[in-house]
Amino acid sequence: MGGVGFLYEGKTKIVEAIDDDSVILTFKDDITAGDGAKHDVMQKKGQMCSEITSRLMHYLNTKGVYTMFMNYVPPNKIRARKLKMIPLEVIVRFKKAGSFVRRYGGQEGEDLQSPLVEFTYKSDVMHDPLMCIEHLEVLGIVDRNTALKVIESAKESAKLLKEFFEIHNFELWDIKFEYGTDSEGNICLGDEISPDTMRLRKAGEIFDKDIYRRDLGNPMEKYEVVLGVCQSILL
Ligand code: CDP
Repeated sequence: MGGVGFLYEGKTKIVEAIDDDSVILTFKDDITAGDGAKHDVMQKKGQMCSEITSRLMHYLNTKGVYTMFMNYVPPNKIRARKLKMIPLEVIVRFKKAGSFVRRYGGQEGEDLQSPLVEFTYKSDVMHDPLMCIEHLEVLGIVDRNTALKVIESAKESAKLLKEFFEIHNFELWDIKFEYGTDSEGNICLGDEISPDTMRLRKAGEIFDKDIYRRDLGNPMEKYEVVLGVCQSILL
């Protein structure tokens, strides 16, 4: 099935098959927000996000989470398990922020009573609509059992990452994961884990893509700090 060659180009990554079981993800220097409405190119972004993803996924692998990560291929590529991606963004929230506050109210940074998992359907034109398990089943996206497994895995991965960042005095407010299935049908964590896909704060300072969304300065300076923290994870 498949073989070697170009598979897909998204807003921030290119996917190429290198054999039947693995792909090379190339992280681009593009940064986008608002379902692609805002777009810029920032030097070294691809390099930083691929290295951060590599190190954080390696950390999760060592803690028993099944991720796509195989090798970091500097400066801006990852060799990863080939997955059939599930078209969902799986968001785990520890604190209220962003679309949660817009939908349900409350203050940015307020604690949630317990971690919350949300599913949104990946579609820029539909603006990533929120989905309950019933939607996933009726629309044939995933069955209930798979959805429940994804919830458990996302909560566990988010908890492990929160603990890692806490050691370095950073607060993980929320994070987005994407999952796929491998050739044997196992659920596997894919895509990216970087300041593009989480809210990371330290003493009120922002170290994530909200800097870009809200035009608060040069996001790459903050991404560099996060990379420094992640370099404590040895590959
Ligand atoms: O406020 P915003 O609309 O960006 O989204 P949110 O639903 O509050 O996002 C929750 C978390 O998921 C944040 O850390 C976002 O950076 C991340 N996210 C993402 O990585 N990709 C998306 N398409 C949407 C959210």
